[in-house]
Amino acid sequence: MNTTTYNLALLGFGNVGRAFVSLMERKRQDLRDQHGIEWRLTGVATRRMGWIAAPDGLDPAALLRGETRAAAGPHNVRDWLRAAHANVLFEITSLNRETGQPAIDHLKAALELGAHAITANKGPVVHGYEELSALAQKCGRRFLFESAVMDGVPIFCLFRDTLPAVEVHGFRALLNSTTNLILQQMEEGSTLNRAIAKAQEMGVAETDPTDDLEGWDSAVKIAALVTVLMREPLKPQEVERQGIEDLHPLAVQAARRAGHPYKLVCEARRENGRVQASVRPQQLPLNDPLAWVNGTSSAICFETDIFPGLAITEQNPGVTETAYGLLADLVRAVGAQKQ
Ligand SMILES: NC(=O)c1ccc[n+]([C@@H]2O[C@H](COP(=O)([O-])OP(=O)(O)OC[C@H]3O[C@@H](n4cnc5c(N)ncnc54)[C@H](OP(=O)(O)O)[C@@H]3O)[C@@H](O)[C@H]2O)c1
Repeated sequence: MNTTTYNLALLGFGNVGRAFVSLMERKRQDLRDQHGIEWRLTGVATRRMGWIAAPDGLDPAALLRGETRAAAGPHNVRDWLRAAHANVLFEITSLNRETGQPAIDHLKAALELGAHAITANKGPVVHGYEELSALAQKCGRRFLFESAVMDGVPIFCLFRDTLPAVEVHGFRALLNSTTNLILQQMEEGSTLNRAIAKAQEMGVAETDPTDDLEGWDSAVKIAALVTVLMREPLKPQEVERQGIEDLHPLAVQAARRAGHPYKLVCEARRENGRVQASVRPQQLPLNDPLAWVNGTSSAICFETDIFPGLAITEQNPGVTETAYGLLADLVRAVGAQKQ
């Protein structure tokens, strides 16, 4: 098979960035033999590391060991992408749920400079989907974001590439691992604070878990799914939102004993031409498939015009699954280019 070498630039090098570089190394031979993709890492940037560009390629192992240092070089995203001769930007910085910035501007810069723009960040999907998709089309490049919801499980590409002309009427889902785990801990007798501490110990909850507990993380994911799959731009603030912070552990335990466990349920449905979306704790009967989703697992049940109930479950995901979504987007982006 003929191979093409692509220059990859990573903006953000935290948990996902590190997992992505490790996975790309692990899959180097498969990418070459099965997809004709050779790659080198020619740019890495974070606020602390600065804008590092090396058109001949950085050493991934040294980068993972934290031995890569910025030399005097570019000072902004456009100069950096040019210096890295980037063919693909992976935007994997932290979420700004109010505006999606500066990630949107970074992705725009990549597309305008002729690179594909791939992100795991929900912000640009919620706040920049239409603009970035239109720009990508104009520039003959791809804007892809499979890892933004459910860690790289193929949801967006399922409808885009595999289920043509299927109309999504709505969905019900559990999209937040932290709250799912916390509710399970509370069912087993923990207080809310002890359950949070346990989730933090396991590396699932962040140091400040407010966005998870108050339902903001779920609301952002609902907004991304509605915006892309139901083609109705929706902001997280427009999602009716109630979190689990006021649930008493005794009520959570009693609900489980009565066979109606609490789950933080995300819902969206088109009604009278408008999408109604919410996230709130609900007691589910045990014949509801979402009632059986425990620990850090996630699930989504789509209602479509062709498939009345199409369910996807993800068992206890980790950061490698998120990294895989980025790798799969790379293959989709440059695979289409190679054909
Ligand atoms: N972790 C997961 O399993 C997962 C799953 C799905 C989606 N995601 C999404 O993936 C993205 C990355 O997650 P993560 O877990 O890797 O986060 P993380 O460990 O906190 O890393 C974030 C990285 O982005 C950099 N960064 C943040 N703001 C920046 C800015 N304005 N300019 C340049 N660099 C910036 C940070 O470095 P500096 O602080 O040095 O700037 C850091 O290297 C997030 O949007 C997250 O929501 C994560």
